[in-house]
Amino acid sequence: MKLSDVEFRAMNTWWRRWGQQHVELPLFQRLGLDVAGKEVLEIGCGNGYGGFLLNQLGPKSYLGLDVMEEQIAMARRNYPQYQFILQDATDLAQFPAASKDVVVIFGVLHHIPAWREVLDEIARVLKPGGQLFLEEPRGVDIKLFDFFFRWGHPDSDFGLKPLETHLKSSDFQFEKLWTPLLTMYHIFKPPSARHVP
Ligand SMILES: C[S@@+](CC[C@H](N)C(=O)[O-])C[C@H]1O[C@@H](n2cnc3c(N)ncnc32)[C@H](O)[C@@H]1O
Repeated sequence: MKLSDVEFRAMNTWWRRWGQQHVELPLFQRLGLDVAGKEVLEIGCGNGYGGFLLNQLGPKSYLGLDVMEEQIAMARRNYPQYQFILQDATDLAQFPAASKDVVVIFGVLHHIPAWREVLDEIARVLKPGGQLFLEEPRGVDIKLFDFFFRWGHPDSDFGLKPLETHLKSSDFQFEKLWTPLLTMYHIFKPPSARHVP
């Protein structure tokens, strides 16, 4: 779902970029993120700053997608050397099964009421042994932001408990790192995972 104006402005500030560079990416790296020589897909790439950071780490390929035209236009303007496409993450049909080594999500699933479909699509698109690095806020923090700052998140049953329940019911295994604002997940598809065509 598109961001509200107030969240769109907040996502395009220096402090958002600072957080991604100095807090979130290092925490993903502490959980094992290593994209060197890998095929990387970023979901909900926003203004492209996450893509910029990931590209500094030497991936074999990088593609960022986002559903919001304004974000993709900004990403292309900011980083014309990288690939960004306008695409809803609930439909990843254009990506063949088992075609990506690493998927990265900086705080996006809580914006997508059909977030389970996105995870199922990621499970299809990841190679066996592939990894998803995901960060998301707690459901209660989403409600607090909406109450105090009118960020206007969509109605959704997204929360960390439903997220983990869904992960456990799929082929995924995961570990996590809690921080006061965001929970960071390292989710992996076992090498023996079922191949979903
Ligand atoms: C909270 S912002 C985070 C943006 C960026 N990852 C960052 O950390 O700055 C959530 C992003 O998810 C995108 N988004 C929301 N629903 C989406 C969907 N169904 N498919 C793809 N992107 C989506 C929004 O347009 C927005 O750019």
